Amino acid sequence: MEQKEDLLKEVISHAKEYGFVFPSSEIYDGLAATYDYGQLGSELKNNIKQYWWKSMVQMNDNIVGIDAAIFMHPTTWKASGHVDAFNDPLIDNKDSKKRYRADVLIEEHIEKIRQKINKEVEKAAKKFADAFDEAQFRATNPNVLRNEEKIKEIEDRMRVTLENNDLEGVKKLIEDLEIVCPISGSRNWTEVRQFNLMFSTELGSVAGDAATIYLRPETAQGIFVNFLNVQKSGRMKIPFGIAQIGKAFRNEIVARQFIFRMREFEQMEMQFFVRPGDEMKWYNHWKAARLAWHKALGLGDKYYREHDHIKLAHYANAASDIEFDFPMGFKELEGIHSRTDFDLKQHEQFSGKKLQYFDPELNQNYVPYVVETSVGLDRMFLAVMSASFKNEKLEDGSERAVLSLPAQLAPYKVAIMPLTKKDGLPEKATDILNDLRFDFNCQYDEKDSPGKRYRRQDAIGTPYCVMVDHQTLEDNTVTIRDRDTMLQERVAISELRAKIEGKVSWRNLLAK
Ligand code: GAP
Repeated sequence: MEQKEDLLKEVISHAKEYGFVFPSSEIYDGLAATYDYGQLGSELKNNIKQYWWKSMVQMNDNIVGIDAAIFMHPTTWKASGHVDAFNDPLIDNKDSKKRYRADVLIEEHIEKIRQKINKEVEKAAKKFADAFDEAQFRATNPNVLRNEEKIKEIEDRMRVTLENNDLEGVKKLIEDLEIVCPISGSRNWTEVRQFNLMFSTELGSVAGDAATIYLRPETAQGIFVNFLNVQKSGRMKIPFGIAQIGKAFRNEIVARQFIFRMREFEQMEMQFFVRPGDEMKWYNHWKAARLAWHKALGLGDKYYREHDHIKLAHYANAASDIEFDFPMGFKELEGIHSRTDFDLKQHEQFSGKKLQYFDPELNQNYVPYVVETSVGLDRMFLAVMSASFKNEKLEDGSERAVLSLPAQLAPYKVAIMPLTKKDGLPEKATDILNDLRFDFNCQYDEKDSPGKRYRRQDAIGTPYCVMVDHQTLEDNTVTIRDRDTMLQERVAISELRAKIEGKVSWRNLLAK
């Protein structure tokens, strides 16, 4: 655990040192839960966006993308339920003065019981070795069964109290489970209160309720209100999807853990419109497709797990998270939600406009059902950075910090280096740079020893370094060094483009 906490600290300082992420307005001591992406961070972020947009929009005939405004008519948020129900149940510990989400405290308690079960299973697996039948053990071992029963009871109580907005019941559950504050260790809790997460501001110069507008807390509503515009103008046939990447804002109370939980963040969301009754089929389809999309990056399958929700959002009839093993442990990276016809029906009701689709096959009008996939761009960024960051001990005893980023996501694909700053080598290197930069984001680096330059590129995740030396002037060959293997090979300049393309092409990733 301690090691993982160290990893988060290391990632934060590495991200700052190399220009990936800075605290926002740092010269004024920063602004809580707000960050700026630096020169390399914005490249990496753009590449993650591209990966999502290409696979979601460009590789699917029936999904199109839009870019809706952040500001929306205030009635949108009445209709969507956010004004009345976009709340977090919060509880304070009177001794540490720390504030927590009550449901998260309970879920963390459940996670501890789960870990107990896993330990029990691991112990038995060691003891019985090859003869061990995990499924049978889980189905029959009294300790495992008792703990599973405990989890179910807690989950049921949590669901009922939260669904009924029974805040006293939530507090009673926390007390009954004897949950303590991780900081003070005490059980001295306040009442549980609901807190709305939307930021509001005023439109124009008029103050008062009529002029209050909200910064969107999700990009999804910009898609719902445009459902018919897109369907009609694009002659879309159900099932079809509308995708969007954009900023969202939430006044998160418990905002910590770097870019994991921010007040201003970016979402990549897709709403998939389906026939009523088909939604569970599509829900399962998107659950599997999204997990495969993440795993294709090659960070390691062990980093992912799925978690079905007990507490459903006000709009959903089924929901599941893809969780990632962040330095802080397994946490939500993406949500897949079956949103029923809730949003479109609400917008019909509040706007007085029909938001229906005529299905020519059924010869019938209906309000489509929606399956949503929603992934946080900043969380993807943290997932990719933390899984790629390594401090490696090399055979010669030295160390290197390396970001083994998926090559398609790396800010620079190749660094071009002249061995020395004289003898015409910089000019030759610049020629190569000026040719390759049409296809790849390249960096030119001539300062310091080759070893230092290689380390610098390793630290920012550049898959290839090309060294131009005296032999280059004679035979037009260069050495190309691989970030991961650190091996160098001599290739003709004319072969460079194909060689680099072979590693960084989107095709490799999208075809997986
Ligand atoms: N439209 C559905 C929706 O917004 P959500 O589960 O609240 O669902 C979706 O958010 C995703 O957005 C999350 O899985 C997470 O990756 C990201 N996200 C949510 N709140 C965030 C925050 N405060 N900071 C960074 N990312 C956040």
